Amino acid sequence: MVNDGLASAQCRGIIVRQMRASDIPGVARAHIAAWRVAFRGILSDRTLDGLRVEHFEGAWQEIIQRENRTNLVAEQGGEILGYVAFGPTHDLQDDARPPGEIYGIYVHPDHWRVGAGRSLMSQALKQLRGQGFTRVIVWTMAGNAISRGFYEKNRFVLDGGERTSERGGERFQELVFTRAL
Ligand SMILES: CC(C)(COP(=O)(O)OP(=O)(O)OC[C@H]1O[C@@H](n2cnc3c(N)ncnc32)[C@H](O)[C@@H]1OP(=O)(O)O)[C@@H](O)C(=O)NCCC(=O)NCCS
Repeated sequence: MVNDGLASAQCRGIIVRQMRASDIPGVARAHIAAWRVAFRGILSDRTLDGLRVEHFEGAWQEIIQRENRTNLVAEQGGEILGYVAFGPTHDLQDDARPPGEIYGIYVHPDHWRVGAGRSLMSQALKQLRGQGFTRVIVWTMAGNAISRGFYEKNRFVLDGGERTSERGGERFQELVFTRAL
C-alpha cells in the first residue's frame, strides 16, 4: 500500500522539499549514480562511465533557473537522496487540457527501496493536482525494468506512445506511462 511506504520514509527521517542551488552537487551525484546502475546494459559502458559530475552540475545550474517547472529533493540528515522534476508536458499537444509531466525522478542507488522515490512521487502528484492537472505522463527508457516496476506501483499504465531519444551519440527507445490525478 502506498501509504505504508510513505510512513516508513517518514520514520527514516526522509523529507521532501524544494531544490536549492546548494543542493546541486548532491543532486548531480545522485543523478549520475542512478544512471550508471539503472541504464547499464541499455546504454554502453563508454557512455555511462564517461558521465561527468561537473557536466551534470553545470546543467543543473541552468535547469534550476527555468520557470514553469518544479524541482524537489528528498533529503535525509542533510544528505540529498534524489530528486523529482515536473511541470506542464513538453510534448506538443492538440489536447485542450494538456497533461502534467514528470521530467525526471532519480534516487541514489545507495538509497533505493527505502521509500525516497515514493515520497518524491507522492509530493509531485499532489502538487500537479494542485496546479489543476487531471492527468500526468512520464517517459522512460524501454527495457528499464526498475522504473517500470516503480511506475506500475504508483498506478501508472503504458499509454502506447514511443519515441527515439539520443544520449552521447547513442539512440534508445522510450515509452510513455500515464495516470489520472
Ligand atoms: C525508480 C526510482 C526513482 C525508485 O526509487 P526508490 O526510492 O528506490 O523507490 P521506493 O523505495 O519508493 O519504491 C517504491 C516501489 O516502487 C517499486 N520499485 C522500486 N524499485 C523497483 C525495482 N528495482 N524493481 C521493481 N519495482 C521497484 C516497488 O514496488 C517499491 O515498493 P517496495 O519497495 O515496497 O516493493 C529509482 O530506482 C531510480 O532512481 N531509478 C533509476 C532512475 C530511473 O529509472 N528513473 C525513472 C526514469 S526518469
